[in-house]
Amino acid sequence: DRVLVLAGGMSPEHEVSVRSGRRVAESLRRLDVEAQVADADAQLLATLATDPPQAVFPVLHGASGEDGAIREILELNNIPYVGAPPQACRVAFAKPTAKSLVAEHGIATPRGVTLPKSAFHDLGAPALLDRIVGALGTPLFVKPDQGGSAFGATPVDSVESLSAALVSCFAYSDSALIEERVQGTEIAVGVVDLGEGPSALPPVEIVPDGGVYDYAARYTPGRTEFFSPARISTEAFQAATRTALTAHRALGLRDISRTDLIVDSAGSVRFLEVNVAPGMTETSTFPQAVAAAELDFAVVCRELAHRASQ
Ligand code: DAL
Ligand code: MG
Repeated sequence: DRVLVLAGGMSPEHEVSVRSGRRVAESLRRLDVEAQVADADAQLLATLATDPPQAVFPVLHGASGEDGAIREILELNNIPYVGAPPQACRVAFAKPTAKSLVAEHGIATPRGVTLPKSAFHDLGAPALLDRIVGALGTPLFVKPDQGGSAFGATPVDSVESLSAALVSCFAYSDSALIEERVQGTEIAVGVVDLGEGPSALPPVEIVPDGGVYDYAARYTPGRTEFFSPARISTEAFQAATRTALTAHRALGLRDISRTDLIVDSAGSVRFLEVNVAPGMTETSTFPQAVAAAELDFAVVCRELAHRASQ
């Protein structure tokens, strides 16, 4: 099979995607799959038309990669690809939408409100922020309603720091998700379908050195300690894998996803978000989960690409 790995893209996660894409392409080549890396740029349409690959492996993070836009182009060009279809991506990528959809399937998710930039710039903003803190309490997490790799995401401990967190957030998105910050163990649960239906990988526990899993903690080797599998109770382990599978199915995802969760002190699991193109870098959790499942990362990539091309 000839596989075109898409990496880079126009989101702030460009560099992360380049690293993820390189890892996927190198893994495929190690198994003698002809894999090329291309960016989702103006050249892409010409490449797809003149030299269509057997399958595309989108490893684009953030807007246009995970919101379904590029996959729409692949659909239009009749090119098979790994992962969820455009509509499912759109829903999964919009965090507030994804949260309410999984909640309808009985999955617990932190309480939150969305705040458009326009409302924040109104003169009534200070009273509005007081009302939000009154309703949700503290601590909080402010994050762009869409996006990844913690760009524009800030933990907030008091109403005084909410405003600054929103300003950072609005640099990345026109709408903020303000969520109650649930204390507990942060875990990520990969889901992969190698032909026998979606199956959950062992949860990976994330322990960032400064307590916050921000961009530097994510991508600087040694800044975060990972435990795979996660050091959680058997019950929490089962609840986590069940939740990731339910989210994957409820959102109509395909082939691959990673659901991020918090296990609170009582062992209950809360849904934070789901990623349709999980990071594949040296410090990303998905490849670690693959290893914890005693699967070979390269074989998983090859199977996903191969299945897409059928
Ligand atoms: N958005 C990054 C790549 C991740 O979730 O792994
Ligand atoms: Mg994410």
